[in-house]
Amino acid sequence: MCGIFAYLNYLTPKSRHEVLDLLLNGLKRLEYRGYDSTGVAIDSPQANDIVMVKRCGKVKVLEDAIAEHFSGKEYDEPVMTHVGIAHTRWATHGVPCETNSHPQRSDDENSFVVVHNGIVTNYKDVKTFLEKRGYVFESDTDTEVIAKLVHHLWKKHQGYSFRELVEQVIQQLEGAFAIAIKSKHFPGECVASRRGSPLLVGIKTKTRLSTDHIPILYGKDEKSSQTCEKDTEASKTKVLPRTESTSEFMPLEEKEVEYFFASDASAVIEHTNRVIYLEDDDVAAVRDGTLSIHRLKKCLDDPHAREITTLKMEIQQIMKGNYDYFMLKEIFEQPESVVNTMRGRVRFDSKSVVLGGIKEFIPEIKRCRRLMLIGCGTSYHSAVATRQLLEELTELPVMVELASDFLDRNTPIFRDDVCFFISQSGETADSLMALRYCKQRGALIVGITNTVGSSICRESHCGVHINAGPEIGVASTKAYTSQFISLVMFALVMSEDRLSLQQRRLEIIQALYELPERIRQVLKLDSQVQELAKDLFQHKSLLIMGRGYNFATCLEGALKVKELTYMHSEGIMAGELKHGPLALIDDRMPVMMIVLRDPVYIKCINALQQVTSRKGCPIIICEEGDEETKSYSSRSLEIPRTVDCLQGILTVIPMQLLSYHIAVLRGCDVDCPRNLAKSVTVE
Ligand code: M6R
Repeated sequence: MCGIFAYLNYLTPKSRHEVLDLLLNGLKRLEYRGYDSTGVAIDSPQANDIVMVKRCGKVKVLEDAIAEHFSGKEYDEPVMTHVGIAHTRWATHGVPCETNSHPQRSDDENSFVVVHNGIVTNYKDVKTFLEKRGYVFESDTDTEVIAKLVHHLWKKHQGYSFRELVEQVIQQLEGAFAIAIKSKHFPGECVASRRGSPLLVGIKTKTRLSTDHIPILYGKDEKSSQTCEKDTEASKTKVLPRTESTSEFMPLEEKEVEYFFASDASAVIEHTNRVIYLEDDDVAAVRDGTLSIHRLKKCLDDPHAREITTLKMEIQQIMKGNYDYFMLKEIFEQPESVVNTMRGRVRFDSKSVVLGGIKEFIPEIKRCRRLMLIGCGTSYHSAVATRQLLEELTELPVMVELASDFLDRNTPIFRDDVCFFISQSGETADSLMALRYCKQRGALIVGITNTVGSSICRESHCGVHINAGPEIGVASTKAYTSQFISLVMFALVMSEDRLSLQQRRLEIIQALYELPERIRQVLKLDSQVQELAKDLFQHKSLLIMGRGYNFATCLEGALKVKELTYMHSEGIMAGELKHGPLALIDDRMPVMMIVLRDPVYIKCINALQQVTSRKGCPIIICEEGDEETKSYSSRSLEIPRTVDCLQGILTVIPMQLLSYHIAVLRGCDVDCPRNLAKSVTVE
């Protein structure tokens, strides 16, 4: 959801054309996050000026506009030091249009230009304050107040550094943001900051970096600090300490260096694998090629430095390869991604499971009052899918919760609760808010995420990294199956010493061993699924029914169909059929039913009969060779047999493929469905 990419080259000559290519490429890597408009700002070849190009629509539209706008030879001249900022915007305040696209500017002269992710909740107050001082706003965005507020403070406090100005600004802002700012008054400098929205800094040097951390520089204490005026109505009582960068530590100083500021690692990995994940209220500033990280106040347990992390991700991992869409690639990666989730954790020889990230907390978890599994969308469905097994193997009450609803209800949380936060991105605002809510109430927080360094990762007490690899398609596929397996592994860990459960554990571990091959078998159904898609793609609706271990597949399948094909779809608990949904059934309503040979088989057959006796003609997902079940319909998909609690992994794959094929047939944008974002960083 929105993407920031900024690039600073210091003493590493690059032409403006090269810089623009870099910025466009960075934006392309961020496209999967979801957006509706784009923009860039670079230095003009005419001295001391900033030029911006913004467009509504895809990065390709911006690319064409840039080719037209920056065609002159002067754009081929190398520049020793330069800062360019770029953005993909997902509209929150104001419709998608050029004026509302980022960068937003401070004035007609583009003195300060800013790219921003998140929502400034008090922007109306700040806007009123600035309007009273003569500022005229051109966009409907909340972001514009940031650019204009920096400008206002710059006029008032001429001696302030760029970084100090931004520090003053962020103290006036409420809500969530990640920002990168460029100014014609501070050429060659870039200042970035975050609160509640992810931002990282990538560092590329010619030689090995001389350090593996960047010290944090803290502001002077308030008594000795200078103050600036009460700058907005919104912050009437704030005294704003000015910080200074003297410190016993030295910031990162390299002779020739390139810096990348980005919303996520996929945008920088092709340039460098050395990154720093910024924390809330960090202000990262580059001046004269030197990166420093500042915070206004030091709290007792604040660290002294931010670590420079080495990313393990490879560029190939975020490339489409021979697939037409990332989503298809990610569906077909599942035989490998599930292995990566289990690697080093499930020991098939000794039939044991170790989860290093939560090992030390297991005794505490065993003593808890209840387990709560919290997430949104697909991540929530992985909780629904594994709840029954968790109840069985942990013998604890297990609650599954949608993060947004959980907060609306002010759900009671106790010190002896264990709360699992499941999130592919690790940045979903609703999940993060719910995490903080539970943490404040003393619960143990376990993160189940796919993104190392994400906010949920960092704010959890312990966790399991699902290791599915980067998931670029907005529709979550391989992350779901890896979340599923992570929770199954947790259940196995919890039941390790329960004698009565040993047989069950062995059966599950054996099925996990066979799972990659079973997934490969299911993927072979692709052409059959494609044929079914041809029957379905012109319909308005698709009902998906099942129960027990397969109910989650119905919910997840329906979510995939909705988000990718814009068709109506509903996951229905088969037991609820006669309480209402049966009224929808006739000979024209498309229905899919999951009917596997598990403890609820007979009940599923009852539901199937209820459907067929109303002239319904369902497509049945059943077990390989189950002729009896197949005989209820002319259309079926046969999946291989596995242990009941893992069936959901095999039944969800045909649904992923089906939604993909319907989307292609309907001409939908598979990787970036309309109105959606990969990482939902606003509440
Ligand atoms: O990154 P998260 O797993 O926290 O995201 C939660 C949902 O936004 C996400 O699963 C969404 O439902 C997917 N796009 C569905 O395919």
